[in-house]
Amino acid sequence: MEKFNIAIDGPAGAGKSTIARLVAGALGFVYVDTGAMYRAVTWKVQQEGLSPHQESEVIALARRMRIELIPRPEGQQVLVDGIDVTKDIRTTAITDHVSQIASIGDIRQLLVAMQKQMAASKGIVMDGRDIGTHVLPDAEIKIFLTASVKERAERRFKEMQDSGNSEMTLSQLEQDIARRDQLDQEREISPLRKAQDAILMDSTSMTIDEVVDQILGLCKDKVGGGK
Ligand code: CDP
Ligand code: CDP
Repeated sequence: MEKFNIAIDGPAGAGKSTIARLVAGALGFVYVDTGAMYRAVTWKVQQEGLSPHQESEVIALARRMRIELIPRPEGQQVLVDGIDVTKDIRTTAITDHVSQIASIGDIRQLLVAMQKQMAASKGIVMDGRDIGTHVLPDAEIKIFLTASVKERAERRFKEMQDSGNSEMTLSQLEQDIARRDQLDQEREISPLRKAQDAILMDSTSMTIDEVVDQILGLCKDKVGGGK
């Protein structure tokens, strides 16, 4: 099949990574989770005992560190300077500070350059907050995936319960999601917003399969049809 790029943006818990991974699998494309890159920097910052407020030290550290994203059938594996941090970057300690790190312009510039390079050869499904607006403005397919805050918190809660994690209550999750939505939407540089040419999909009452099928249908129409 002809290779093209798909950008999937949206707020936390909208289903971006689940859907991006499945769409990539169905098309034989590579899935890139850009949130994991901001999480990886946050992890390294914590390892080094830095505060997100120490911007110049944080930027210097981010420039020195090596982030590797390795596609695996079960998802994306993340290495920082050769250490597997795939699980560690998902903890609450990281989630609490990642949006602060992601608001630093030089950090975004560094990671966006890496992301653009990853997508240069096409055949990429990339998810994040600024992919359609900033990282891949020419992506052939752009999706803005959303769902109500309540639904997104419930999804995350179920996920935590299923993995035996009782770190947060449903209402704490709802508050955390609303807080991050606000930080991501209101930051100065590349805030979370729908690209003008992105297709808005509200997955509040859609199953994962329904969302995936709809995106695969769009791929067929737009890229396969008549080009
Ligand atoms: O998985 P979840 O939706 O909780 O978040 P994520 O995709 O892992 O992203 C974590 C954080 O990284 C977001 O809340 C944003 O602050 C930031 N991020 C960003 O600014 N730009 C991106 N392209 C991806 C993530
Ligand atoms: O990447 P993002 O933060 O946008 O969301 P996710 O981690 O892919 O999805 C959060 C949770 O919602 C996962 O447990 C998915 O299985 C679930 N989900 C769902 O129940 N229904 C959907 N339509 C999409 C995702």
